[in-house]
Amino acid sequence: MSGNLKGKNIVLGVSGGISAYKSADLLRLLMKEGATVKVAMSANAKKFITPLTFRALSGSPVYQNVFEEIGDDAMEHIRFAEQADLMAVVPASANSIAKMAHGLADDALSTLFVSFSGKVLVAPAMNDKMYSNPAVTENINKLKSRGIFIVEPEYGKLACGAEGKGRLAELEIILKEIIAQFCQKADLAGKKIIVTAGPTREPIDPVRFISNRSSGKMGYAIASEASKRGGEVTLISGPTNLVSPPGIETLYCECAEEMRRLVFDKFSQCKALIMTAAVGDFSPENYEENKIKKNLNGGNVLKLKRNPDILSEIATRKDGQIVVGFAAESENVFENALEKLQKKSMDLIVANNIAKPEIGFGSDYNEATFIKKDQQIRYLDRMPKTELANLLLDEIAELIEVG
Ligand code: C5P
Repeated sequence: MSGNLKGKNIVLGVSGGISAYKSADLLRLLMKEGATVKVAMSANAKKFITPLTFRALSGSPVYQNVFEEIGDDAMEHIRFAEQADLMAVVPASANSIAKMAHGLADDALSTLFVSFSGKVLVAPAMNDKMYSNPAVTENINKLKSRGIFIVEPEYGKLACGAEGKGRLAELEIILKEIIAQFCQKADLAGKKIIVTAGPTREPIDPVRFISNRSSGKMGYAIASEASKRGGEVTLISGPTNLVSPPGIETLYCECAEEMRRLVFDKFSQCKALIMTAAVGDFSPENYEENKIKKNLNGGNVLKLKRNPDILSEIATRKDGQIVVGFAAESENVFENALEKLQKKSMDLIVANNIAKPEIGFGSDYNEATFIKKDQQIRYLDRMPKTELANLLLDEIAELIEVG
């Protein structure tokens, strides 16, 4: 890869953390792609890496002190930031994320951020306990809801010796995401797309339900990417912990029956339906109005009935719409997925092997195989869900085009 960022002006924001040294490598990768890069540092970043390193590598002064005597160089730097095409904050500490979420401006990086109105990409990196702190989650969600692109950190060994989620994403992935910010296609412009996501919850009594491990991340990634490509997206979501992506109509539901109703309501107007949701196959035969006592019938209390299969039913109402389903399989992945594709009259099925660790439910990564109606197969390697979403949308855009 080279030249993908030719003519682009990028501000690389570096905040304080052990992985700050990695942004020196990122700077070189960005420049290799043809970008002009200037660096802004938070006050704490300078404790981990010196501005001189970035100055030497970028060939430009580093914006590091808001109140210093401003020479011509620094003024030029600020002007550059105002005209920059993208600001990438890598690594983003819990502190810098909090400041960005709340509009605090008390050092060079945070000041530049609040005065910058262009696209922003943020790659958090911190200790796993910090990353899972609800305040940090809330701040990250705030940034997401304002359209800021988050490159999620990875699981792995952390600088503090612990193992968990918080390690800066691989630089190659960050670079790809930065490039992707400039390659936004508009091939779904004006196309109505329905995406279902997340699990369903089938109520047993007022306090209990049957559900599954779906996090909703794959469906939310598809909805968000489809919207960026110009699609008019309706996201029909079961219960998740995710924030609705900006600019998308999100309809919430709990059980399979509610999801079915919403899908049927919208289906006739859409160009494509992408059923990412892990719809529960069973629900309790009877809903109990009162909490079931634990010693009722010696614990033998649950009788299940089959839920409606939304995709099978929708097949009879197809009127030119492209219908895509997902198959989460733990064995005979290909054979089972192919059978579902045919049985449910889909145009394409995305098969996942959920028996593989580190992918699928809850993960930010997925490894999938696309199987089309004409049995064309595309095997894909493990990749971030946003990337997989875009490859799937490439296929869908083509299917819509062909009609
Ligand atoms: O048969 P299976 O549940 O594995 O099929 C998965 C696909 O079917 C997914 O796309 C899922 O959203 C959809 N589905 C459905 N209604 C159900 C169960 C699954 O539309 N009741």
